[in-house]
Amino acid sequence: MTDLNARIGETRATLERIARDFSPAVFASSLAAEDMVVTDMILKAGLPIAIFTLETGRLHQETLAVLKQIKATYDYDIALYRPRPELVDEYVTRNGLNAFYDSVEMRRECCRIRKVEPLGRALAGHKAWVTGQRRAQSTTRAELAVQEDDAAHGMVKFNPLADWLEADVWDYIREGAVPYNALHDRGYPSIGCEPCTRAVQPGEDVRAGRWWWENPDSKECGLHLVDGKLVRIKSVAA
Ligand code: ADX
Ligand code: SF4
Repeated sequence: MTDLNARIGETRATLERIARDFSPAVFASSLAAEDMVVTDMILKAGLPIAIFTLETGRLHQETLAVLKQIKATYDYDIALYRPRPELVDEYVTRNGLNAFYDSVEMRRECCRIRKVEPLGRALAGHKAWVTGQRRAQSTTRAELAVQEDDAAHGMVKFNPLADWLEADVWDYIREGAVPYNALHDRGYPSIGCEPCTRAVQPGEDVRAGRWWWENPDSKECGLHLVDGKLVRIKSVAA
């Protein structure tokens, strides 16, 4: 608990610093557990950091329901960034609705249209952006710093939960009665789009349910670039 209190203090201080020195700043929320911790801290402190979600058009009902939970708890409307309809239409017409199962290239192209292009619009005009990433989530995040230069987007990127453990996230949520995605109670530790996320078995890696049909070495998310390159999201062994 002492460790957690220290982490909470540091994270609040980081968010205050972002609001003070990096305005305008935005927070990218996938509406999953980590992002609810950051959301709770921003909204309870009334910090001027806008919050947005990339609404890919393929999110679970349970994920969309979190938007209503946030409205009911904090009286706050998360901004939604959606893919450009003509790009989605073209992809679906040419390749089929679920072509992302066919090949890694098809999967990356779907992520590019539904997540990466809208992310660019959401970040435009800001000095900094904030994520809910943690080091312990995957080997590619093992070196994650709280503050990074995001050369690809030409701004500063903050990962204020970088050193939080999964148990810290859940202690914070339970103690603060923070709303969270109901899928977390049904075997989904990590949640992305509905067709690309499955529940995991006890003992399986927390990210085993993301793009589970792909070779772990080909998994690249597209949202988080390291040194301008796509990052592989190879999971940490459980
Ligand atoms: S992913 O890159 O593999 O999809 P993950 O689900 O672990 O990422 O989320 C890591 C961080 O990326 C989240 O804490 C959040 O900051 C951002 N993120 C992921 N998905 C979204 C989304 N749909 N909308 C906004 N931010 C997102
Ligand atoms: Fe498309 Fe799946 Fe990527 Fe969502 S996670 S954008 S459905 S490929």
